[in-house]
Amino acid sequence: MSETNRVWYVTGASKGLGLSLVQKLVRAGYSVAATSRNKQELIQNLGSWYNADKVLALQVDLTSDESVEKSIKDTVAKFGTIDVIVNNAGYSLVGSIEASSAEEVKKNFEVNVFAIFNVMRHALPILRANKNPTRPRIMNISSIGGLVGFQAFGVYSSTKFAVNGLSESLDSELAPFGIRCICVLPGYFRTSFLESGATTTKKTISEYTEVQKVVDNHLNVINNNQAGDPNKAAEVFIELSKIPSPPKHFFMGSDSYSMAINAYKGANEELLKWKDLSCSTDFPK
Ligand SMILES: NC(=O)c1ccc[n+]([C@@H]2O[C@H](COP(=O)([O-])OP(=O)(O)OC[C@H]3O[C@@H](n4cnc5c(N)ncnc54)[C@H](OP(=O)(O)O)[C@@H]3O)[C@@H](O)[C@H]2O)c1
Repeated sequence: MSETNRVWYVTGASKGLGLSLVQKLVRAGYSVAATSRNKQELIQNLGSWYNADKVLALQVDLTSDESVEKSIKDTVAKFGTIDVIVNNAGYSLVGSIEASSAEEVKKNFEVNVFAIFNVMRHALPILRANKNPTRPRIMNISSIGGLVGFQAFGVYSSTKFAVNGLSESLDSELAPFGIRCICVLPGYFRTSFLESGATTTKKTISEYTEVQKVVDNHLNVINNNQAGDPNKAAEVFIELSKIPSPPKHFFMGSDSYSMAINAYKGANEELLKWKDLSCSTDFPK
């Protein structure tokens, strides 16, 4: 089986990292099922890369189990199987934790976390039955905010911490089937993530002046100046999908890499500093 016969399923494909990835996949000759809340916008944004033989554009509500189930069935009906899944769709609620309403928090979890469970529930039987010697791969798009909890991104960070946990467990559960799950933690990439992708909390609390500075800095200074190039990210996703023994966690972007090094170093120092108290709770041996 040639590499480009592999079938990809990519969520949130009308913009940003998802759109760049689908374009690169089509150019390389892969078959791709691409989901969006708006199929017409997806086809329009794919432009000349849209090719009905190779791209299945799917209108999917990722928060609906039924809608996801139908998209997986449609993918298998068109391409016969699925080899690589990229759970990419996601957005950030921006604002203090205190200002985030129950509805806003729930919605962010539905899209960033529960949608991945929906995809896995319906796609895993297909992946497990996949007999291709090049075994299936799953890439869950987390964030460096899934390793480090930042001010103003508390809800988003908590969704991405959840993505890391589910990805690690999934990787362990699927290892006996030769299927691997890679948790990808990008840094800042120049997409619409900090424009249409960012939803600020309806409520703001004036006392949170530091949080407001962080929000303003992201929307007005960091936006459009992110170091990460989505086209290079797309190439990396394709490369990761081919690695026989891939990493469990992959930090994407030089900013993500440096923040992760600092975070792990700090965590290690903190662990050692508090070792005696940590280990003081066992029954006597
Ligand atoms: N860009 C960054 O700096 C950055 C950093 C770390 C992590 N990430 C993560 O990377 C992934 C892709 O983000 P991006 O940078 O490409 O952002 P983007 O340009 O805003 O694209 C996000 C995609 O996610 C989908 N999406 C957004 N809100 C949604 C909602 N409410 N319901 C369902 N789908 C929704 C959209 O799909 P449709 O409109 O097609 O339905 C869209 O194509 C996300 O998971 C994000 O958290 C991005």
